[in-house]
Amino acid sequence: MKGPIPATFVGGTPNPLLRRRNPLPEVIFLGRSNVGKSSLINCLLNQKKLARTSSTPGKTRQFFFYQVEERLLFVDPPGYGYAQVAQTERTRWIRELDRYLRKAEMLLGVVLVMDMRHAPLPIDLEMAQWLAESKIAAVYALTKSDKLTRSKRAEALARAKRDLTFADSGAITPFSAQTREGRDEVWQTIESWLQKSA
Ligand code: GTP
Ligand code: MG
Repeated sequence: MKGPIPATFVGGTPNPLLRRRNPLPEVIFLGRSNVGKSSLINCLLNQKKLARTSSTPGKTRQFFFYQVEERLLFVDPPGYGYAQVAQTERTRWIRELDRYLRKAEMLLGVVLVMDMRHAPLPIDLEMAQWLAESKIAAVYALTKSDKLTRSKRAEALARAKRDLTFADSGAITPFSAQTREGRDEVWQTIESWLQKSA
C-alpha cells in the first residue's frame, strides 16, 4: 500500500447550506447509516482514521468535509434512513440533502454506498433514480464484500445490478475497506469525473 494521500479535516456542520463556499469540486458519499461510508473514505485516502467511523449507527448528524490534496473535497454526510429515526425526520433529512445537492455548485458526483450483505433498500433505489433523473454522476459501492463467500458475493452483485435499474451496471462495484477491493475502481471513476469537468 502506498502512503496516505494528503487530506485534511476541514470541518463539520449540521447545516451544510450555511457552509462557507469552497472552490473545490466535491464528491459526496451517500448511504444508509453504518454501511461503511467513513471507512470507504479512509480506504480511498489510505488513512486509518481521518473520517470518523463508529459502531453506533446514526450517532453523527453532521456533514463532515475533507480536503484531498489541493484538488477535491470529500463530503461525509450523516447516514440516511436509519431505523430509529421517525419517518418525518427522514423525510426532512432527504429534503435537506436534496437541497444541498441541487445547490452544490461544484458537485462532481456521488458515491452511493450500500452494504453488500443486504438487497438495496427502497431508499437506495429512490436515491439512484433521483440521481439519474437529476443527471448527477454516480458510482455504486457494495461494501463489506469481505464478509461474503464467493457465491453469495456473485449473487449479491447480480441482485444489485438487477435492482438498481437506474444505474449503469458498470458503475456498480463490490468494495471492502478490509481487502481494499474496489478501491481502484472508485478512484478511476472519480478521476474520470475530474477529467470531464476540467
Ligand atoms: P455512519 O457514519 O454512522 O452513517 O456510518 P458509516 O456508513 O460511516 O459506517 P462506518 O464506516 O462507520 O462503518 C460502520 C461499521 O462497519 C464499522 O464497525 C466498520 O469497521 C465496519 N465496516 C465498514 N466497512 C467495512 C468493510 O469493508 N468490511 C468490514 N468487514 N467491515 C466494515
Ligand atoms: Mg460515518
